Amino acid sequence: MAKNIVWHSAAITRERREKQNGHQSFILWFTGLSGAGKSTLAHRVEEILHERGCRTYVFDGDNVRHGLCSDLGFSAEDRQENIRRIGEMSKLFIEAGVIALTAFISPFRRDRRTVRSLVHKGDFIEVYCDTAIEICEERDVKGLYQRARAGEIIEFTGVSSPYEIPENAEIVVDTGTQEVDVCAHQVIDYLVEHEKIAAPSASPDSSSSVASLHGG
Ligand code: ADX
Repeated sequence: MAKNIVWHSAAITRERREKQNGHQSFILWFTGLSGAGKSTLAHRVEEILHERGCRTYVFDGDNVRHGLCSDLGFSAEDRQENIRRIGEMSKLFIEAGVIALTAFISPFRRDRRTVRSLVHKGDFIEVYCDTAIEICEERDVKGLYQRARAGEIIEFTGVSSPYEIPENAEIVVDTGTQEVDVCAHQVIDYLVEHEKIAAPSASPDSSSSVASLHGG
């Protein structure tokens, strides 16, 4: 870290933003193999949250690697840096009162744990998109598994680089065999149960949802 830098505290705090928004801010961290359905699910969940008046933003692995992380490859070190940057970015989004949804393979437990430790307890909700590699490979939407098997792509997750299955994910979704809507509602139900967002019957700016801020 650079020297001679002093933290500036803003008058408009996270709490004030959350109150104005009528919902808590937090990270929904989708993890799983390439082709598991992370991005599809994250965007579907975002749609539902948006329709319910929540402020949201999806960070997608492939997109972020075109810009913010375009200097990074797929070695363990580069993936670690990729996840660190997204973790820090997501933390800023929490401060901004926004629900950050991230869709990165994030194959290493240590890196996911690092992001979890950056934020307050309950602010990091890990969603394991549990799709068997056989199914991801069968889908092979981007044709990358075929190329990895042919040796044209090195260090490909699940083929020539490990994926460490989460041991304590808050939510495990069966993205291999369940419809995306079923998985999305499983995530939404979790958020309602843990008072992160208001139940659908209540209006987004109802006093009950504001009262439940930081309740979960
Ligand atoms: S992570 O491991 O650092 O979390 P990230 O989610 O950003 O990965 O990027 C994964 C995406 O990059 C995959 O969905 C795939 O499209 C592409 N990709 C290209 N090369 C690789 C590779 N060697 N391993 C995994 N994904 C790769």
